[in-house]
Amino acid sequence: MSKKVLVTETILRDAHQSQAATRMRLDEMLPVCEKLDKIGYYSIECWGGATFDSCLRFLNEDPWERLRVLRKAMPNTKLQMLLRGQNILGYKHYADDVVDEFVKKSIENGIDIIRIFDALNDTRNMKQAMESCKKYGGTCEATISYTTSEVHTTEYFVKLAKELVKMGADNICIKDMANLLLPYKAYELVKAIKAAIPKNVLIHVHTHNTSGTGNMVYLKAIEAGADIVDLALTPLGNGTSQPATEPFVATLEGTEYDTGLELNAINDISEHFKGVAERLKKDGFLSPKAKDTDVRALIYQVPGGMLSNLYGQLKEMNAIDKYDEVLKEVPNVRADFGYPPLVTPTSQIVGTQAVLNVINAERYKMATKESKGLLSGEYGKLPMEPNSDVVKKVLGDKPEIITCRPADLLKPELEGYKEDIKEYIEQEEDVLSYALFPQVALKFFKYRQANKARIDSEVGDVKLAIQPV
Ligand code: CO
Repeated sequence: MSKKVLVTETILRDAHQSQAATRMRLDEMLPVCEKLDKIGYYSIECWGGATFDSCLRFLNEDPWERLRVLRKAMPNTKLQMLLRGQNILGYKHYADDVVDEFVKKSIENGIDIIRIFDALNDTRNMKQAMESCKKYGGTCEATISYTTSEVHTTEYFVKLAKELVKMGADNICIKDMANLLLPYKAYELVKAIKAAIPKNVLIHVHTHNTSGTGNMVYLKAIEAGADIVDLALTPLGNGTSQPATEPFVATLEGTEYDTGLELNAINDISEHFKGVAERLKKDGFLSPKAKDTDVRALIYQVPGGMLSNLYGQLKEMNAIDKYDEVLKEVPNVRADFGYPPLVTPTSQIVGTQAVLNVINAERYKMATKESKGLLSGEYGKLPMEPNSDVVKKVLGDKPEIITCRPADLLKPELEGYKEDIKEYIEQEEDVLSYALFPQVALKFFKYRQANKARIDSEVGDVKLAIQPV
């Protein structure tokens, strides 16, 4: 019995987020959108994650306009985004009205599939985004953030998958952001989840090739019944990014798992992205190291992106010699904090705390506001009870711990934001940009006002260039 494996292409989102600091510009995507649209991918991941922040902060691009232009350029393929549940695309919890409006506008502007996750796998933090996604007609891909610890057993993840299905998930994604999921474990996990959820719920596996096991993870996951895998075109594939599309498509060709995708057509698109990768390298965003595999990811359970972040933090502090010590401290902090999976924002919180513990030569002598927040339940329920001595040291003798859904403590926020930026609003979506990244969005709005005539003519050109012929 043949079972076609579906492919999500991540070249427009995770690939450049993982390898090139999310710096790919819209004008570098558009020349091949028509071709991408014809490949027959299950979906193209092109929005969300860090792209939104990067558009506003570094590229002077309106992320909403990017989405609309991509939608027009790829009318036949499902567009996919990554959303951090109640964190949306930011780093803190937002009120439900902001989450609802953001999801609504994402779908209105062209998103078909929303991959929704929570860094702690606290489903209360995913509830609003999932409900809104269903309400506005999106495909809801509810996500398991994979990690390892004594609580993160196969049974734990199966229970989580069943709960997400009950909450309305159309797909279940196993998100292995750190490439910790080993091939045989992937087989076991996919088999177990597949057996526990309805047949019409697809299993989508997401990994990276950070530690070099990514392709094998996919292969075993597919043998166990995974329906969809995430791949990235070779110029920005492998290493800290997804396993590369072309070799994987070739691997399955002619087998019972054939993807049905044409290698020649894919390669044609890759030629274009070789040039983009060159530009990113020239501008210093794409390090040649991004292609390497680093087994330390497995040893220290640290996601690839975090390795380079920690390196950067230490370099700024003139403390590169402490790098190995910090890497060894990361698993300790993670254990003290109740084993959160390491993914935005927990990876930053645990990483920064590990740096402080080493630099100060005393553990938890200083704790960041975010560490305090994580320990006091502001981000949701930790997978395990945190180390009580550490809680005492960081939060004091009588810590106030939040046990309700954190967003229940937030009042509606949208109207206040509207008021704040009324003189800059050019589209309803601007309020959401501002809600997520107030200073950055404001700076962008000012830039946009000052350059209005030029931007209008450029956007006009872009629209013209992508008219189908
Ligand atoms: Co990823």
